[in-house]
Amino acid sequence: MPVADSQWAELRSQAIAAMRRAYSPYSNYPVGAAAFVDDGRVVTGCNVENAGYGVTLCAECGLVSELINSGGGRLTAFTCVNGNEETIVPCGRCRQLLYEHGGPDLLVMMPGGIAPMSEVLPDAFGPWDLAEVKETP
Ligand code: THU
Repeated sequence: MPVADSQWAELRSQAIAAMRRAYSPYSNYPVGAAAFVDDGRVVTGCNVENAGYGVTLCAECGLVSELINSGGGRLTAFTCVNGNEETIVPCGRCRQLLYEHGGPDLLVMMPGGIAPMSEVLPDAFGPWDLAEVKETP
């Protein structure tokens, strides 16, 4: 389903609001993410860093946690921004996180424009791959 420009603007503004709540004292690189769910909800997240640098939670982790903890559903459109309010790409790990809950048709706002997750994370490993193994005798 196409996403109207006004809806992308709404997501962007929620991502910026989330970015302002980020806890990023180590990198000084706050990130905010926002997405539509297939029932019309908006879920958001911000990055939460840690003195143990590797423990850092990306903004997408918080977003997916909110998705599940607010009733689940499928992500349909996603955007994330940095501290300059610029659109950024989700990191590799977060592409996999998002793929699990939006699949290949999730629309992602990239710096160059909107792309489906099938292009953002091509040849993705997903739940279906596990299902195939379970059915093998
Ligand atoms: N970061 C995110 O929150 N999401 C991404 O997709 C890219 C990176 C955060 C993690 C870390 O707190 C900071 O940006 C710098 O890497």
